[in-house]
Amino acid sequence: MENFPLFLICFFTLLTLPKPTRATLPGTWELLASNAGIASMHTAVTRFNTVILLDRTHTGPSRKLLPKNHCRFDKNDAVLKRDCYAHSILFDPKTNQLRPLKILTDTWCSSGQFLPNGTLLQTGGDLDGLKKIRKFNPCDLNGSCDWEELNDVELSEGRWYATNQILPDGSIIIIGGRGSNTVEFYPKRENGIVSFPFLSETEDTQMDNLYPYVHLLPNGKLFVFANTKSVMYDFVENRVVKVYPELDGGPRNYPSAGSSVMLALGGEFSEAVVVVCGGAQYGAFLERNVDTPAHGSCGRIMATGENPVWEMEDMPFQRIMGDMVILPNGDVLIINGAMKGTQGFELGSDPCLNPVLYRPDEPAGLRFMVLNPGTVARMYHSTANLLPDGRVLLAGSNPHVFYRFDVEFPTELRLEAFSPEYLDSDKMNIRPEIVDIPETVSYGAGFDVVVSVALPVVGIIEVNLGSAPFATHSFSQGQRLVKLGVGSAVPDGGDGRWRIRCTAPPSGMVAPPGYYMVFAVNQGVPSVARWIHVS
Ligand SMILES: *[C@@H]1O[C@H](CO)[C@@H](O)[C@H](O)[C@H]1NC(C)=O
Ligand SMILES: *[C@@H]1O[C@H](CO)[C@@H](O)[C@H](O)[C@H]1NC(C)=O
Repeated sequence: MENFPLFLICFFTLLTLPKPTRATLPGTWELLASNAGIASMHTAVTRFNTVILLDRTHTGPSRKLLPKNHCRFDKNDAVLKRDCYAHSILFDPKTNQLRPLKILTDTWCSSGQFLPNGTLLQTGGDLDGLKKIRKFNPCDLNGSCDWEELNDVELSEGRWYATNQILPDGSIIIIGGRGSNTVEFYPKRENGIVSFPFLSETEDTQMDNLYPYVHLLPNGKLFVFANTKSVMYDFVENRVVKVYPELDGGPRNYPSAGSSVMLALGGEFSEAVVVVCGGAQYGAFLERNVDTPAHGSCGRIMATGENPVWEMEDMPFQRIMGDMVILPNGDVLIINGAMKGTQGFELGSDPCLNPVLYRPDEPAGLRFMVLNPGTVARMYHSTANLLPDGRVLLAGSNPHVFYRFDVEFPTELRLEAFSPEYLDSDKMNIRPEIVDIPETVSYGAGFDVVVSVALPVVGIIEVNLGSAPFATHSFSQGQRLVKLGVGSAVPDGGDGRWRIRCTAPPSGMVAPPGYYMVFAVNQGVPSVARWIHVS
């Protein structure tokens, strides 16, 4: 090194210095794969820490071939009657390896949710997929798991742009869809399809009621939001039990979607707060106006309150097609999307490259923090999912009917991860590692989690359960974070080990049965998650 020419050292230093804007804002970006083979329209993380990426079938050639002798034949496919391209991928974010999966019928704008046993139930789509029910029993990347289509049972009604939500008993409700203002269940119930007039009331000339935002409240009812309206829905009695005030600022669901989350549940589990952020202006879709500024407003409501009202806040950026991801500590990451236009092919512009952190416990006005901008436009048909290691996986973006690479917003095959500030290297000495945890817990049961932390623990280590949602079209179906009741961390035999007494969620209303990522969170810094089965 002594003999290394000085100018080369300077040159090298210049090359490696981050751009000032990127260095000054929290969070870091990394490229995980330069060619995932497909643009993921629907993304879900499995309990094997693999990720299911899913596009639609009639996009023509993707950038990944199916294994030999696995081509798909579809005489009705307008593009490829013999299709040897993968339209679904299994991805391992630890090794960044991937494997093509074979999906049979069209999954365009479909919906999904994990069953209590960890199998993904995936429903609907377009054309031959409209009434299809599919399963995916996940595995690690070495396994041979693949899509299975059910041939003995199908949906009672076609479901294109529907929202699915797992219920306290482990069944799944499937709500709405284009031309389907009804709900139905899996497993099928006696009454088959049930009319849900709220969806007709919220349908306008440009739709705006598709992919409704659905949150299972801890009282066992559903919060359903469509267009500008929302209700508390008793799906057992098929009855609207509460009508919330209208949210100002225009439509919020497809084709005008912002995003929505139910904030982390905790304490006595008697309250739930819902937040809806961003969206397109009414008319942008009808007029195909690419330059109409998106909404910058968020509404926040105590959904379990007696007479709740929307509290309004403005985001630092207007945003259409943003994704809201609940982080393990309860903060919400708002990421992806554009600042102008609407959902639909070729209808968005001005990508919003800055993620924003929403810190729900701060007072109004201080909740938003602008984060380090990315470089990849994630427009229509892109997704964001929390990974078990605390990073957030960004996939997809394809605002075109087919795969196109010669345009301003190309079909996006790159996979990236965004690491929130809690993964910065100066926080690693307070990052807990879970060293012991049961594999299963029953509702209301006490159990211990043992963690190891480099620095002595001060205060409470939270133990939080994150669901694995089905992310598509800027909304993560079934996303929830449940903060367990915990005791103080007590030293456990030295070596920086701490034992935390936890109480499992009280019921399926708080946490529907299934697999959850368990995060130990120390001063806002989450461990790598371990999966636990709750039933
Ligand atoms: C989970 O349950 C469904 C039926 O509800 C079944 O089809 C599937 O095979 C099960 N998965 C596993 C991994 O046993
Ligand atoms: C998959 O197989 C490879 C090679 O046999 C092995 O090194 C790796 O640990 C396996 N991965 C998992 C997740 O089992």
